[in-house]
Amino acid sequence: MDEGTGSRLHLPPHRILPFIDSKSIKQRVNEMGREIAVAYPQQDDQLLLVGILKGAAVFLADLVRAVPRQVEYDFVAVSSYGAATESTGEVRILKDLDAAVAGKHVLIVEDILDTGLTLRFSYILENLRSRNAKSVGVCVLLDKPSRRKVPIEVQHCGFTIPDYFVVGYGMDYAEQYRNLDYIGIVEFLER
Ligand code: IMP
Ligand code: MG
Repeated sequence: MDEGTGSRLHLPPHRILPFIDSKSIKQRVNEMGREIAVAYPQQDDQLLLVGILKGAAVFLADLVRAVPRQVEYDFVAVSSYGAATESTGEVRILKDLDAAVAGKHVLIVEDILDTGLTLRFSYILENLRSRNAKSVGVCVLLDKPSRRKVPIEVQHCGFTIPDYFVVGYGMDYAEQYRNLDYIGIVEFLER
């Protein structure tokens, strides 16, 4: 795959520096799957993993197969906040769950937790609680705590990372690089 300068797409010149290789991701995701199973030990309890589109799709697909218990999964889509939404604090839910949540343990699955504004202002946690989920938790592959603007409680975290802009394993830069099997850092080059 061409991971060149991105000039085809009129993106500023950049390159991707390898950061977390696919073997390390796989290892950690498998551990997280076991951690999640341990966190919900009652086999009668229904567990629903809810991925936030599109970034969490790749992570969720691997994660559900690493959870050694019965589990359902679903997706929600939320609008990303721009300059305008940041002031109004509005993040709309664009696609709601198909599955019922009442009585189920729900775990929101995110690719990366950055400012926290998406989770905070989509009111997704409150929304699920109000629909009588038995519990509502958060699971993220990556966490950039230094970027946080609002506090978010996280139950399961894959890797804590510094303030890098990362791509791959579902995460994008202008919709590119989601299909990399590793996580890379976007480095911008001098023109
Ligand atoms: P937050 O609302 O700032 O916490 O951002 C969460 C969302 O922003 C993530 O689900 C990603 O879609 C996106 N995001 C944040 N940091 C990165 C990054 O380093 N690479 C790619 N996407 C990111
Ligand atoms: Mg996302």
